[in-house]
Amino acid sequence: MSDPRRLPQLHIGKVPIYGDLILAPMASYGDLPFRTLCGEMGSAFSFLPCVLDEGVLRNPRRTSGLVEFASEERPIALQLLGRQADTLVAAAEALMALRPDIMDLNAGCPARRVFYRGRGAALLQDPLQLGEFVRRLVAVLPVPVTCKIRLGWDDTTRNYLEVAHILEESGAAAISVHGRTKEQGYSGVADWRAIGEVVARVSVPVLANGDVRTVADIEAIKAQTGCAAVLIGRGAVGNPWILARRDLGDVPWSERLALIRRHLAAMQDYYGDTQGLMLFRKFVVKYVATLEGANALRPRLMEAQTAEALLALLEQGVEAASSAQV
Ligand SMILES: Cc1cc2nc3c(=O)[nH]c(=O)nc-3n(C[C@H](O)[C@H](O)[C@H](O)COP(=O)(O)O)c2cc1C
Repeated sequence: MSDPRRLPQLHIGKVPIYGDLILAPMASYGDLPFRTLCGEMGSAFSFLPCVLDEGVLRNPRRTSGLVEFASEERPIALQLLGRQADTLVAAAEALMALRPDIMDLNAGCPARRVFYRGRGAALLQDPLQLGEFVRRLVAVLPVPVTCKIRLGWDDTTRNYLEVAHILEESGAAAISVHGRTKEQGYSGVADWRAIGEVVARVSVPVLANGDVRTVADIEAIKAQTGCAAVLIGRGAVGNPWILARRDLGDVPWSERLALIRRHLAAMQDYYGDTQGLMLFRKFVVKYVATLEGANALRPRLMEAQTAEALLALLEQGVEAASSAQV
């Protein structure tokens, strides 16, 4: 992912980042095969989905699968979920055995099981404590510490400017901002203007995030916020070409099918034939989302029992859609 002939677009701490688009951390999607593919497309570092600090400490074996990465993916950012400084620090120190390049703290997850226990977006409710967590991590880790936040808990407590200021004061080397509150979940529209306010407030790099689905969105969020880089989550699922600044409509189906084949093969290599195929289902429905006839094709794709059967169905679906257009 790093290219010595190119200049880095930004630095996170001392880590040079070659590019301004990054696949956002996404549990259940952001596994090694998909991250590798997105890295080839241009994702400038690998931002792994969150792992629970207590899980890292109690059951390192189980966690190790969740934080597995390939050296070609570097730079690597690992992300922790936690609610207590000592546990976060102990887990982060344990994860250092993997030699990540960046350690991120999740202060944005809106899932009930996470925030009910005081983790993820719940950390936004006590910015001073969040700052203390970051300070403690910065004090012991040999790598830059970053934090991913939302705009606040709800519409009445949009404390992103205070949070961002405290994070910077506490030594965070970069801040990712998803332009929604916890209460919004994934509804409504991401507020890019608010992300721009964060950019103006802090001097560390800000990674802007939320609702980037097209190349025009990339340029718009960059122009509106002045961010150092853009995190793309859902917009890359079914369309990893966005990380190469290509809109889906500009990618011919022959090229899409070739990549789909490669993605499926990588998943079967990584997880084994059966599990790889099963886990690929959530991707394939996104790959065909814009295909005419996708509604009828989807249930059949979900039932395919082998890679060959799934690929044959896909090819037939593409063929049928293109002959329908003629
Ligand atoms: C299925 C899924 C899993 C996610 N997992 C994580 C995660 O592990 N850590 C995190 O910080 N954000 C996580 N997110 C949030 C994304 O990183 C991102 O902030 C959000 O999807 C908004 O960006 P988008 O509009 O580009 O998707 C997840 C989002 C989705 C949809």
